[in-house]
Amino acid sequence: MKKLALLALMAIPGAASAQPATTQPRQHLSFDHDWRFHLGDTAAAPIGPVSAAYDDRSWRPLDLPHDWSIEGAFDKDAPTGGGGGYLPTGIGWYRKSFTLPRKGALVSIQFDGVYMNSDVWINGHHLGHRPYGYITFAYDLTPYIKRGANTIAVRVDNSLQPNSRWYSGSGIYRHVWLDIRPKEHIAQWGTYVTTHGNDVTIQTQVDNPAPGDSLVAQIVDAGGKVVATDAAPAQNAKQHLSVDAPLRWSPDHPYLYKAALLIKSHGKIVDKYDTPFGFRDIAYSDTSGFSLDGKRIKMNGVCLHGDAGCVGAAVPERIWRERLAVLKKMGCNAIRTSHNPPAPEFLDLCDEMGFLVMDEAFDAWESGKVKNDYHLYFDEWSQRDVTDQIHRDRNHPSIVLWSAGNEIPDQTSDKGVELLKALLKTFHDEDPTRPVTTANDDIAADVHSTRMAFLDAEDVVGYNYVDRWHERRELYYAPDHYDHPQWKMIGTESGSVRTPDVYSLGNDPQKPEPNYISGMINAEQLWKFVAVHDYVIGDFMWTGIDYLGEARWPGKGSSSGVIDMTNLPKDGYYFYQSQWTDKPVLHLLPHWNWAGREGQSIPVIAYTNCDTVELYLNDKYLGTKYREFPRQGNSGAWNKYARPYVAITTADLHLSWDVPYEPGTIKAVGRRNGETITTEIHTAGAPAALKIIADTTVISTDDAATVHVDIVDKDGNVIPTADNPLTFSVTGAGRLAGVDNGNQRDDDAFSLPRRHAFKGHAYAVVRSGRTPGPIHLTVTADGLPAATITIDAR
Ligand code: GAL
Repeated sequence: MKKLALLALMAIPGAASAQPATTQPRQHLSFDHDWRFHLGDTAAAPIGPVSAAYDDRSWRPLDLPHDWSIEGAFDKDAPTGGGGGYLPTGIGWYRKSFTLPRKGALVSIQFDGVYMNSDVWINGHHLGHRPYGYITFAYDLTPYIKRGANTIAVRVDNSLQPNSRWYSGSGIYRHVWLDIRPKEHIAQWGTYVTTHGNDVTIQTQVDNPAPGDSLVAQIVDAGGKVVATDAAPAQNAKQHLSVDAPLRWSPDHPYLYKAALLIKSHGKIVDKYDTPFGFRDIAYSDTSGFSLDGKRIKMNGVCLHGDAGCVGAAVPERIWRERLAVLKKMGCNAIRTSHNPPAPEFLDLCDEMGFLVMDEAFDAWESGKVKNDYHLYFDEWSQRDVTDQIHRDRNHPSIVLWSAGNEIPDQTSDKGVELLKALLKTFHDEDPTRPVTTANDDIAADVHSTRMAFLDAEDVVGYNYVDRWHERRELYYAPDHYDHPQWKMIGTESGSVRTPDVYSLGNDPQKPEPNYISGMINAEQLWKFVAVHDYVIGDFMWTGIDYLGEARWPGKGSSSGVIDMTNLPKDGYYFYQSQWTDKPVLHLLPHWNWAGREGQSIPVIAYTNCDTVELYLNDKYLGTKYREFPRQGNSGAWNKYARPYVAITTADLHLSWDVPYEPGTIKAVGRRNGETITTEIHTAGAPAALKIIADTTVISTDDAATVHVDIVDKDGNVIPTADNPLTFSVTGAGRLAGVDNGNQRDDDAFSLPRRHAFKGHAYAVVRSGRTPGPIHLTVTADGLPAATITIDAR
């Protein structure tokens, strides 16, 4: 036990270099290291795992965040069913022994997220119970902390199944923190920073203020320069500051300041608390949608669940950074955290990388969707959960809209209107700066449609699948805009351009039946409507990225994303990129490996924003196609145009050619505003090599790297039909955290060091440990030379 305690002490950053309280008044310490884990239940008392004397040496040592579900095997009969991706759930215990790194007046522990139904003890004392798996919560440890070794025990109960419609993971799957604060301090989430123009208002909750103490507020720019200061008495102060010509926060220029709050007592700083924020003014209008600092921005949004494929729910920050970078390149500027509050670091990344966020609270209120979902806890916990969500998240400049729920069955009942109003009141009381919506799927539904009072009460009316009912297939929001001109309207959820998991021309070699030609039409029509109607705030596609769960065996997850679970863009991605970005885009599909289909007519599709595209097969010219939406009219004078004129244009947002198949090269040449762009697809030959690339080859300790492996022919073309079995091994200062290939129907557990390639591709996540050094990942496949990549953990 003694040894463990010492290890724990060493593991706490800052412990070794603890400084005098005057210069380091509070500490927010990572508490992720050196836990022990036991899968399964065990009696808590009398000398169970909650007591310090309990012998946990047989338990598995691990570091958090940890998701035990993702380590398990897929099982068709798993209690969680397809909702949870057929992965194991159950009950698990965690324990950690630690010695306080330094004396502090007040000590608390913060869990960013535990799925679910957690109970926490310190030294045998029960601290509390928290059902909701997506909420951040903290407990005061001060009265129970001893000199010497202390023990925290956590019981996690995810055994009541099914409780989710998507993969949730199980365990302490987000970070844990130890907070050491002086007696007089700024409370947890105790600042509320809002901006208007150049003005900043900071409301601060100071706990245990001493008479005469002051609260100093400083606005600090990204370079560390203090640009405004104010001092007030330290009693729950509301301070007003102003900054001359501050740099504004926007998706294109996500500039962040921080508000530094210092409590001063007798000239000494006794506490300091930083809150990052951004200067931006948001506005919503029933005629012109959303605007930021007076500039209209259409929300080009995606819905995202919180898992990241083979690492499950315990997602290293770097993986979110990489995923968000791919979304950003698509032109995505908005994210809906469906259907729950995300990890805090996810929101930090949205602030830093520039995304508008719709932060959602729940998937169910009083009426459930699956047997054991949040409806069991709603009455007792929803107000507490939503208040904590708002307090935790309301300083993020990225968050521009709250959602109180997704497809809430109560939307169709009188009781639901009451429930909505109670939640709205809490949102408005705790954050009057942002509007609230819910994602409604029954607007205009037959028989049980959403109550008018429900929609009227919302600040912004959210539409899920606006084209679902009746004439709205074509008219989308128009009937409601006409009937309720005062409603502000947003597409909280709509189908995306889906790419088939595998291209197929059907089974009949005489008759091609391509499975990839019609998927884009619905999404194109919806996007056209959204693009030209200013009153539509924007749209959030279901989904940006594939996710685990919500599957039917042998599927393990949903392929609704325009990006797969290995962070690889699919065809649909390029459709949105062609609409949402200004750089020339020219993407072709399908692949060009159709042995046995020679002479058959195969549709070739281009997602492009070029004005014209010429197509060639083995240098034979196959014609030029034109697209322009909306078509431009004369500009300046008769027969003059602002942009190069496109004579004939399709009504679709893609181009298409029917090409008689022969192996070789399909080449497209696109022209846009005088620029030329060329895209080629080659018929790939036999496997010749494994190509291995990492997003980055230098990472930190306690970090992750993602590695892509392609099976390529002798000319370096990825072989779109290759499914070779691959094995993975890691040596050096890290470990293999999971492998994937993007195929939702694969049966191999993510934790196994093997995987078939899927469409010529596979993916691995490598984790660094606490010791720096090189990490070598080697991938082998029968008949091909092994490939190794080295990642340096520094
Ligand atoms: C929506 C729902 C999502 C997801 C999606 C699947 O109705 O809000 O959570 O289930 O359907 O298509």
